[in-house]
Amino acid sequence: MVQINEMNDVQPSSQSRTAAHTHIKGLGLDEHGIAKKVEGGFVGQADAREACGIIVDLIKSKKMSGKAILLAGGPGTGKTALALAISQELGPKVPFCPIVGSELYSAEVKKTAALMENFRRAIGLRIKEIKEVYEGEVIELTPEEAENPLGGYGKTISHVVVGLKTAKGTKNLRLDPSIYESIQKERVTVGDVIYIEANTGAVKRVGRSDAYATEFDLEAEEYVPLPKGEVHKTKEIIQDVTLHDLDVANSRPQGGQDVLSMMGQLLKPRKTEITEKLRTEVNKVVSKYIDQGVAELIPGVLFIDEVNMLDIEVFTYLNRALESSIAPIVVLASNRGLTTIRGSDDDSTKAPHGCPPDLIDRLLIIRTLPYNQEEIKTIVSKRATLEGLAVTPDALDKLAVHGVSISLRYALQLLAPAGVLSKTAGRSEITVDDIEECELLFLDSRRSIKVLEETKGFL
Ligand SMILES: Nc1ncnc2c1ncn2[C@@H]1O[C@H](COP(=O)(O)OP(=O)(O)O)[C@@H](O)[C@H]1O
Ligand SMILES: [Mg+2]
Repeated sequence: MVQINEMNDVQPSSQSRTAAHTHIKGLGLDEHGIAKKVEGGFVGQADAREACGIIVDLIKSKKMSGKAILLAGGPGTGKTALALAISQELGPKVPFCPIVGSELYSAEVKKTAALMENFRRAIGLRIKEIKEVYEGEVIELTPEEAENPLGGYGKTISHVVVGLKTAKGTKNLRLDPSIYESIQKERVTVGDVIYIEANTGAVKRVGRSDAYATEFDLEAEEYVPLPKGEVHKTKEIIQDVTLHDLDVANSRPQGGQDVLSMMGQLLKPRKTEITEKLRTEVNKVVSKYIDQGVAELIPGVLFIDEVNMLDIEVFTYLNRALESSIAPIVVLASNRGLTTIRGSDDDSTKAPHGCPPDLIDRLLIIRTLPYNQEEIKTIVSKRATLEGLAVTPDALDKLAVHGVSISLRYALQLLAPAGVLSKTAGRSEITVDDIEECELLFLDSRRSIKVLEETKGFL
């Protein structure tokens, strides 16, 4: 007899892989917008969190379009974490496009074009359409072969038979080979719930029928109930795309699927590059759809980290882009005080955060403050739990002291190697000794500079 054992010691993959901000799960505000003490992974920084909460409310009520926010504060004070939390509060349907200032500079794309592309990645469009579809659970999927009309030994697919089942009945469809291709592209198998658009033949996989929910499955799979009603029906289809998706779909010769192809049909095809002209055309179609009530604009968030890396040309472009009628909310972050603006002729003029005064003038500025020892202790212990490490209270205190005197990042970075040391020594908890050993092994920035200064000539 085959024996089957349950595996309890395997962690789900979402738990075993951690990134720098894995513990951040939203802003952690209560219903009045007041920062809760330790909530949503966020510790302290109450004023900034509450300010971000107001921004989230404004974005949700669509009052923030074309405005910009600056998160200003020292390194490791949680600016990136705040931006991420804003996007989490907005939910997955609102586009969030994070970039770093230096990302805009490449030899291939003009910097202003790169900025525009990211602007359009951050503007969403929700399109509602009533479509005639065939929807149901796939019960049969048989390609029918025919002799190749061009002769030779090969066979071609003449058509494909698809059986669809709903709660009301079943229907067998004979479809064109081109539809078979999109069926294969969507990786449809028997037991999936799909719909096929009657006009375009576009195939969309909705999920796996929940009749199959008990089957062994490695991948995370979305199970959906068996569709009600007839197989052939009209259905309201909601799609979330970004303006950039539309640009891309229309720049490709054949266009994409679904709504993208619908939009694609309206514009002249056979463009291969996203040009300013193409964008204007896409905008025209989009405004028409909005006027007709078919589509709704969802301005998302464009996050530009290290804003001091932008230069004067990009700044003027940014000003203009913010003033256009469709603009996302722009969140900037900087850890610089007074620095020179990149690209300005006169290097002696310094500006706050390296931003020109006219941009600063239109920003809402949110300040992030350094953490105190108690807060750092909480952040470190949260990270330790997340990484599956136990730390003795003494060791935690020691890390918190480092967090204040050196930096939060240094304290967080010592955790993982200290965990390795304690494990090799056969302990289950990280002790003060482990931390001290790690300090010797891994220099912080200040000590590293000191070493370099003392030993001139090597490197
Ligand atoms: N208030 C906080 N609560 C919990 N974790 C925080 C907090 N502030 C920062 N962190 C964590 O500390 C690390 C550094 O913060 P980060 O947001 O990258 O700083 P910045 O962008 O300001 O340089 C990240 O891992 C971040 O998730
Ligand atoms: Mg950052």
